[in-house]
Amino acid sequence: MSDHTKLNKTVSVIGLGSMGSGIAHTFLDAGCQVSVWNRSREKIDSLVSSGASACNGPEDAIKANTHVVVCLTDYSAWKKIIEEHDLQGHFEGTCIIQLTTGTIEEVQWHSSFIEEHGGRVADGAVMCYPRDLGTDAGSLLMAGPPNVLQECDPLLRVLAPTWTNLGEDIKKPTILSRALMVDVGLSLIGTVNGVAIAREGGISLDAFLQHTNNVGAILPAEKARLIEAIRNGDTEKTQASINSWGEGQKAVHSVAKSLGTNLVLQNAVQTVFEEAEQMGLGKQDLSALFNVFTPAQ
Ligand SMILES: NC(=O)c1ccc[n+]([C@@H]2O[C@H](COP(=O)([O-])OP(=O)(O)OC[C@H]3O[C@@H](n4cnc5c(N)ncnc54)[C@H](OP(=O)(O)O)[C@@H]3O)[C@@H](O)[C@H]2O)c1
Repeated sequence: MSDHTKLNKTVSVIGLGSMGSGIAHTFLDAGCQVSVWNRSREKIDSLVSSGASACNGPEDAIKANTHVVVCLTDYSAWKKIIEEHDLQGHFEGTCIIQLTTGTIEEVQWHSSFIEEHGGRVADGAVMCYPRDLGTDAGSLLMAGPPNVLQECDPLLRVLAPTWTNLGEDIKKPTILSRALMVDVGLSLIGTVNGVAIAREGGISLDAFLQHTNNVGAILPAEKARLIEAIRNGDTEKTQASINSWGEGQKAVHSVAKSLGTNLVLQNAVQTVFEEAEQMGLGKQDLSALFNVFTPAQ
């Protein structure tokens, strides 16, 4: 471990679900002194057996250390904890590293609330599984005032050695993480839908796996091409137009219908292509679908 990560060795963690306990274990493995609190006691006990100190309430976790990582299901859980434990008077001088997934409005509310009560906030989104924390695969998107991010840096590096600083705008990790969730999430949902269609049609999962890997090999280059076309406003040139992609998707719809698989995803995709056609984008490149998703001026 670098000297940098040893600069701040004490931290509290509130919320010990899959991610919160992964965070606490990663800090412990890195030699930090970790105080923990969770609503259900058994998760505290499990961390204590790994070397953490137990807190009797969230107020004790806040008192125990200047830096407090919060990682709960959602912001309503955090709001409930603040209300039930009357925490608003406890944030003076505390730096909350908020890693709970929320909405833009919740993230903004939280930052103002903590600052009004004398605390500081670094807000972030975890972009990896708990098992990846503390390794090069650990991924954290963070935002907050520069001085706050700087003071949190030694702790953030323990979780994700190359954490990303998105600047001062507190809502940026929420926006980027959700945008990436659409990208990766829809692709994986598509994989599951594709497996259902293949299996219903008597195709072996091994054949599907082999061919999805072959077909998917184009994805990194294709994504980069789409992004460049959108960046340059150059969506006219194409190897396969929106019309041609739309016909392909109609064929998927037809095959799925014949096999009797659920058409919910095909119907949604068809709507996207119908809107593109109505906007006169049919002859353009797939990158021109950007216009379907961008808010109307
Ligand atoms: N798991 C992942 O791979 C992953 C990846 C990226 C981001 N995240 C984000 O990390 C956050 C935590 O996810 P997770 O996977 O750790 O969830 P989880 O395993 O379901 O844990 C949820 C945590 O929230 C607590 N909680 C929920 N409602 C509460 C309430 N009303 N009062 C007090 N505590 C409450 C739970 O306490 P109890 O133990 O008492 O129920 C538990 O500590 C989420 O925002 C998630 O989006 C997770």
